[in-house]
Amino acid sequence: MKNILVTGGAGFIGSAFVRQMVLRHPDLNFIVLDLLTYAGNLKNLLPVSDEANYRFVQGDIASRENCASVMKEHDIDTVVNFAAESHVHRRILEPDAFIRTNTLGVNVLLDEACRAGIGRFLQVSTDEVYGDIAPGTFSVEEDPYLPNSPYSASKAGAELLVRAWQVTHDLDTVITRGSNTFGPYQYPEKLMPFFITEAIDGRALPLYGDGRQQRDWLHVDDHASAVACVLFHGESGQVYNIAGEHQARNLDITRRILELLDKPESLVRHVPDREGHDRRYAMRCERLKALGWQREHSFEEAAAATVRWYQENEWWWRSIKAGDWQDWYERQYAARLAAADG
Ligand code: NAD
Ligand code: DAU
Repeated sequence: MKNILVTGGAGFIGSAFVRQMVLRHPDLNFIVLDLLTYAGNLKNLLPVSDEANYRFVQGDIASRENCASVMKEHDIDTVVNFAAESHVHRRILEPDAFIRTNTLGVNVLLDEACRAGIGRFLQVSTDEVYGDIAPGTFSVEEDPYLPNSPYSASKAGAELLVRAWQVTHDLDTVITRGSNTFGPYQYPEKLMPFFITEAIDGRALPLYGDGRQQRDWLHVDDHASAVACVLFHGESGQVYNIAGEHQARNLDITRRILELLDKPESLVRHVPDREGHDRRYAMRCERLKALGWQREHSFEEAAAATVRWYQENEWWWRSIKAGDWQDWYERQYAARLAAADG
């Protein structure tokens, strides 16, 4: 392993992985291939932009030409694929991009990786492929696929392609399934950065339905270190859950954010629920722990640090919210908030 292609490396988790790896592994080269969609942001990579073992290439994983040329030019021997349309709700508003990147893009990337004769291919996936699970239960890697949203179906489709390439083309592959991730540099459409930045400005927080949906919460640096652990030590052909082992209801996360910011609970609005909204995800990650990985962050410490980061880094998120974000906000929330207030 010498030249590692990190696709989607300008996004939230991919950039955390690159920032961590470039500094920890000066002997390895990290080449980011990213289309720079609305969610990709070169500011996320500023902390490593001058490092000798880091390069950035703008390109599309669904383009054979882009994939083939980056693999050839940088003599790539390993691929870690973070690239995706990652926001569940945008799939309902913008259908085609999800299948194009999350499924067809993975097909192209696998094919070109095989053609280039690479060693390991790591696919970053999600706990959403297990679908909604009953109270008190935890998903393990052998559980069946039961995706309920077009986003999770597109990610499950990608996992099946990865498995097929392992069997049919003898490609060395591993898959990670992470839970709800939070931390610095997260595009403010996801629950934590959205509610933190809206609450800073004293604006309404649109909580879907009763807010009692439950998620497992994982700090982004722990997600990144787990992906690295699987990349270096994971067994070929295997799948690894990555859990933060902190289950909380959306309502509790919202209340904690408000407490940390010293803002009133009256900012919360219970808006009409998201279509096909899964009630609960939770996972065990014993297989990952057996590789020697452990979390470095507790939820409490990481949530407080995350709130502080958005308070201290308005330069990062205010410019995002001044752009296309506003159009997204109107389309996603205007009618819902009006229904809640009406
Ligand atoms: P993100 O939306 O912040 O970043 C996605 C990145 O992919 C962006 O930089 C974007 O420009 C890039 N991209 C999109 N389409 C592309 C294409 N066709 N070619 C090249 N680059 C493209 O997403 P994230 O939250 O960092 O998620 C990264 C991965 O982790 C995704 O695969 C997602 O499914 C998975 N995941 C996310 C979470 C979470 O809570 N955020 C949890 C589990 C798994
Ligand atoms: O579980 C892993 C998944 O977590 C990843 O695969 C996805 O890429 C990632 O986006 C995330 O999906 P969610 O839909 O769970 O994330 P989000 O932050 O959008 O929402 C978290 C919960 O909060 C979810 O139950 C919906 C709810 N929510 C979210 C927003 C943005 C609200 O109630 N109101 C909101 O405005």
